[in-house]
Amino acid sequence: MYLLAQEQPKFTIREASEEDLNIVMYINKTVLPENYPMFYFKMHLRNFPKAFLVAEMDGKVVGYIMCRVEFDNLYTQPERVGKKGHIVSLAVIKEARRKGIGTALMKKAMDAMKNFYGADEYYLEVRVSNEPAIRLYKKLGFKVIKVIKGYYLDGEDAYLMARLA
Ligand code: ACO
Ligand code: ZN
Repeated sequence: MYLLAQEQPKFTIREASEEDLNIVMYINKTVLPENYPMFYFKMHLRNFPKAFLVAEMDGKVVGYIMCRVEFDNLYTQPERVGKKGHIVSLAVIKEARRKGIGTALMKKAMDAMKNFYGADEYYLEVRVSNEPAIRLYKKLGFKVIKVIKGYYLDGEDAYLMARLA
């Protein structure tokens, strides 16, 4: 009888700390055109620490997710006002992709936004050309609510995607 030794990529997800922000900023700059100054990361970490997560592989940070919760009309139920869990930025370094890290970061951040900050829904913007990310979000139950014309600095449109919490 054979036992197939399947390589199981091991990663862990944990809450970010201020010490992680340099590497988070570095990953953000390396893989996304939407970059932010340090104070922007710090502000999210201080205000929504339970929903700012990093993924580690072999003791190294390889991805992050940064969120905030806003109060406004919901995208999923426009007649209702509520708490909107905004996924502001998600990224995984190239070498660590397609191992489930993006999915795990999303799921844990969504749980945290609901359990700690009372989110009624989750939403995000994504480039209309960003097929990997759009697929990931669709798999997690997000639907396109609308197209935001020229949302990005280079003129590309965004999909506003959302789902109930
Ligand atoms: N092509 C097609 N589908 C893909 C791809 C790809 N290259 N990558 C992910 N997917 C889809 C697949 O359906 C995949 O499931 P499968 O592997 O079982 O087929 C599913 O997404 C889940 O993939 P994960 O392994 O969980 O995702 P990963 O860890 O690779 O991270 C991410 C996905 C975050 C989009 C990564 O590709 C990345 O960092 N990209 C660059 C930065 C970026 O685009 N971030 C999102 C911007 S939008 C925002 O921040 C709100
Ligand atoms: Zn946004």
